[in-house]
Amino acid sequence: MYQLHNFDQETFLRDYWQKKPLVIKQGFRDFIDPLDENELAGLALEDSVDSRLISQHKESWHVAHGPFEDINAHCIGAWSLLVQKVDQFIPDADELMRCFAFIPHWRMTDLMVSFSNAKAGVGPHIDQYDVFIIQGKGTRRWQIGLPGNYSESLPHADLKQISDFSPVIDEILQPGDIIYIPPHHPHNGVALEDCMNYSVGFRAPSQQELLTSFADYALEHNLFNKRYKDQSVELRPFPGEIKQQELQQFKRLLLESVNTPHFDHWLTQYLSETNRLSSNELNEEDKYSEAEISELLLSGVYFVRETGIKAMFTEQQSTENADFIFFVEGQMFSIAAEHKNFVLNFLNSPNFSLESQKKPEICLFFTQTLAKLVNSGFWFPE
Ligand code: SIN
Ligand code: CO
Repeated sequence: MYQLHNFDQETFLRDYWQKKPLVIKQGFRDFIDPLDENELAGLALEDSVDSRLISQHKESWHVAHGPFEDINAHCIGAWSLLVQKVDQFIPDADELMRCFAFIPHWRMTDLMVSFSNAKAGVGPHIDQYDVFIIQGKGTRRWQIGLPGNYSESLPHADLKQISDFSPVIDEILQPGDIIYIPPHHPHNGVALEDCMNYSVGFRAPSQQELLTSFADYALEHNLFNKRYKDQSVELRPFPGEIKQQELQQFKRLLLESVNTPHFDHWLTQYLSETNRLSSNELNEEDKYSEAEISELLLSGVYFVRETGIKAMFTEQQSTENADFIFFVEGQMFSIAAEHKNFVLNFLNSPNFSLESQKKPEICLFFTQTLAKLVNSGFWFPE
């Protein structure tokens, strides 16, 4: 349903990604919103959904966090409702987000959807992450500036804004237009009328996040117990001194843990986790046996990928005939290397049936993996 137009991926990656903001006029032709504001408000009532309502009334800013019991109570003055991870709940929103999969899945965070009434916005601010913002229904004026030293203000404890900036882009977006904003570029979007916006966000883990998660993995799997050792100790005038070569040895000791297959395994697992807001894992009594999955496959049933699910794997280094390993939401799956291409096609398709493949032998090698994917709540038979 959604397809990008007026956009060259290679030029974008070369000239704009992480470098310069860009407006893509009519990136989506005849754009149809994947959901409306009522559905968005419905999501914001649910416990498992992360949402905020930011409003400005008589010069003062208010921020309320979902889940909301009475959302209308907060819709005063100019207001925006922002809901995270909508791709995990609305299949068409997931499809819209996947139009940007020329940037790898592991770099994407989620699709944040906002509804704003006339004059609303979250104020001028700076984000740490790249974002594509798609204009849905309505129109909105977007101003984007260049990175610089801007003074920050907190008009509300949960709302970071900046002082004014000089825009290098100042455009009124129409439905189907897209803007790309690189990290650290100040921006401000003000709705000219009721409008919907879809933000495809990208993640860039920090050293701190990586170190913390890798250390947790090491503890969980009881890895890296090798200790510092020295057969020759240099004499020194002060016993408190740590020699440069000793520092180097410590660095080598730590680097050794990074230069292991454990690191590759942890990183793929880590990047595959989107911290899904709700688990669809089947209860023990509802789980499918491999025989049941095989029967469903042979009867031509469609297996549908759950909305928002993305599989990840590391590029294989050598031609060795090891199993093909992939991760979904931190869970590992493996299949004989010879079936890699089949599995890649499967993972890339929103739905799959044996009927469309006309190859019953697929059952023989695929049932076990498919049963695991279904029982984990990542695919479901329709
Ligand atoms: C929005 O209000 O939809 C986007 C907010 C932002 O600029 O990040
Ligand atoms: Co922003």
